[in-house]
Amino acid sequence: MTPSTKTPPWKTQGDEKREAVRDMFAEIAPTYDLANSIMSAKGHHRWRNEACALIGLKRGDSVLDLCCGTGDFLVSAERYVGDSGQLIGLDYCAPMLEVAAGKVRPGTQLTLGDATFLPFESERFDAVTVGWGLRNVPDLNRTLAEVVRVLKPGGKFVCIDMSQPAGPLGPLSRWAYHVMVPLLGRILRQPEAYAYLPKSTEQFLSRDDLKRAFELAGFSEVQYKTRFFGNIAIHWGVKL
Ligand SMILES: C[S@@+](CC[C@H](N)C(=O)[O-])C[C@H]1O[C@@H](n2cnc3c(N)ncnc32)[C@H](O)[C@@H]1O
Repeated sequence: MTPSTKTPPWKTQGDEKREAVRDMFAEIAPTYDLANSIMSAKGHHRWRNEACALIGLKRGDSVLDLCCGTGDFLVSAERYVGDSGQLIGLDYCAPMLEVAAGKVRPGTQLTLGDATFLPFESERFDAVTVGWGLRNVPDLNRTLAEVVRVLKPGGKFVCIDMSQPAGPLGPLSRWAYHVMVPLLGRILRQPEAYAYLPKSTEQFLSRDDLKRAFELAGFSEVQYKTRFFGNIAIHWGVKL
């Protein structure tokens, strides 16, 4: 077999990253949910519900879930926005959206599109959610600017993503993460995709820098909290 000459996704930037990350998610789409549940000990559902509550999602809200992947954030949001709410998921990877289509309720719109160029009019949404998405986009600041643009004034934004644990347990937790996640990748026969997760987390903004990026983009009342021994951070804020 000829060894792959493709640049691994964690070494790419800009348009090359856009394509490498999309190819990677297309490959892992069928096993993404299983891997997520194993890696988070099923905590990922709880964190999405918590994120919906933190931004006070309520009945009738219109919500955009950015980088919606297999649709779990949309499923969480359904309970909060009720039948009168409008839910739209956007992702640029068709195989991930195909999995989502089997899970979300009828009426939820799934849009194939790029987070850095949102195909929606300005001030359309009451809230925007994103789970484990911002770390993957090729231009974070442009994505945040797009989120600000499509939110109504007073609209809320919440982001869940990986984070680097701090404190005395930090090194142990980091070591486990760098060993266990790639091991899972080898078991699932997707070593590159699961090597990407710890490497992209290392390259991503710290919790405080992500908070500052939210503020610079135009969000106020920006806060964050951590979960899962500091490996997960939930950031949220309000568009002025
Ligand atoms: C780790 S998955 C997260 C899926 C889902 N949000 C969740 O909570 O499980 C990241 C998703 O971001 C999508 N993504 C990455 N870059 C994107 C971009 N530039 N535009 C749209 N979607 C993107 C990928 O296709 C993938 O489905």
